[in-house]
Amino acid sequence: MDNFDFYAPTYFAFGRGKEKDIGKLVKKFGGTKVLIHYGGGSVKRNGAYDGAVKSLQEAGIPFVELPGVQPNPRSGLVYKGIELCRKEGVDFILAIGGGSSIDSSKAIAMGVPYEGDFWDFYKYRSTMPVTKALPVGAVVTIAASGSEGSRGAVITNEENKLKWSAGSDVTRPKFAIMNPEFYCSLPAYQTACGITDILIHVLERYISDSQNVELTDRMCEGVMKAVINEAPKVMKDLQNYEARANLMWAGMIAHNNILGVGRVQDWASHDIEHELSSWYDCAHGAGLAVICPAWMKYVYRHNIGRFAQLAVRVWGCEMNFDNPEETALEGISRFEQFLKMLNMPMTLADLGAKEEDIPDMVAHLGLRSSVGGFVKIEAKDAEAIFRLAL
Ligand code: NZQ
Ligand code: ZN
Repeated sequence: MDNFDFYAPTYFAFGRGKEKDIGKLVKKFGGTKVLIHYGGGSVKRNGAYDGAVKSLQEAGIPFVELPGVQPNPRSGLVYKGIELCRKEGVDFILAIGGGSSIDSSKAIAMGVPYEGDFWDFYKYRSTMPVTKALPVGAVVTIAASGSEGSRGAVITNEENKLKWSAGSDVTRPKFAIMNPEFYCSLPAYQTACGITDILIHVLERYISDSQNVELTDRMCEGVMKAVINEAPKVMKDLQNYEARANLMWAGMIAHNNILGVGRVQDWASHDIEHELSSWYDCAHGAGLAVICPAWMKYVYRHNIGRFAQLAVRVWGCEMNFDNPEETALEGISRFEQFLKMLNMPMTLADLGAKEEDIPDMVAHLGLRSSVGGFVKIEAKDAEAIFRLAL
């Protein structure tokens, strides 16, 4: 196991009615004037917005609002949010919604106290850590990105289509309200995209050459098995509160990095996918469903034992000791069957992506400092993975 630091100080309030605590929690973390930041309006239909407003009013905390966050959140609204916070003297940002609203809030939060362009934190992310940000709270309405417990804020720059992540411990939400009732209004397709994202957040950590990581291996396996078990229940009955509750907490656990400490992580599927969602504006989970199996087929020979372990322990395959490669491939095939059960897209064509765009996406990907911790992915590899996904 490698040395590590783990610091994830978000306060989680989980369950029915927990939105009542928002006002109290904003005060606890020093907020006196709030920006409420949300997307296209789903939060007004499922009670999350009303619950937040009521709690802030009861606590006597003034607020302003900025709606309009799009899935795959854009830099343009971040600039607007920064300006609004400065003009209104906002000192706390409350995101209501999913990863897009939370990430847009985190980006505004890092931009307000910084005199330069907030995109600098993205452009120079290896040399310019975020050291100051307004505090952010999140009211989560979708189990997917895990942004409620993560450092990162993924933003698409509208000028150059770069979809990149930045953030540090100061951008982790101070608190997250997780009421699975709000998640119950999420339609089947978005629910499936979220489940895919959760599973792949664990896989990005699990597929690793790191040795002696028995504890995090077993934790990853447990979370993946729970997700695989609960997903069909929710797909069958979108109002299944208990299954939704399990998935909602899994979404947080999968990405606050408690599963990833002490080991080398991969993240190539995510980096490659971010090209798809910036190019075609598809849902992040849908892009992952297309890219991750293709990536697996491209890299599994690098460590057949690891893929065979995944197949046996998570997908319930029988180990073929004479031919472990067969077991590894059987595991990848069961993963694909699971994604089909979720009605996820399986090919680039299903996403509306075009073969002729591959060279441009590969060139774009090359602007990142490096891709892939398990197997380093260079331009020729990325091209091959995109082609496997055709
Ligand atoms: O805009 P609204 O009306 O809110 O509708 C949203 C949106 O259309 C809708 N929705 C959310 N909760 C709902 C609901 N509709 C009905 N009922 C509900 N309860 O769902 C759509 C998708 O929302 P979005 O916030 O975009 O989804 P998600 O949480 O999957 O976030 C995706 C973004 O997060 C990034 C992705 O790249 C993508 O940009 N990620 C962020 C990460 C992080 N910060 O740590 C890590 C991830 O790997 C990921 O990259
Ligand atoms: Zn993801």
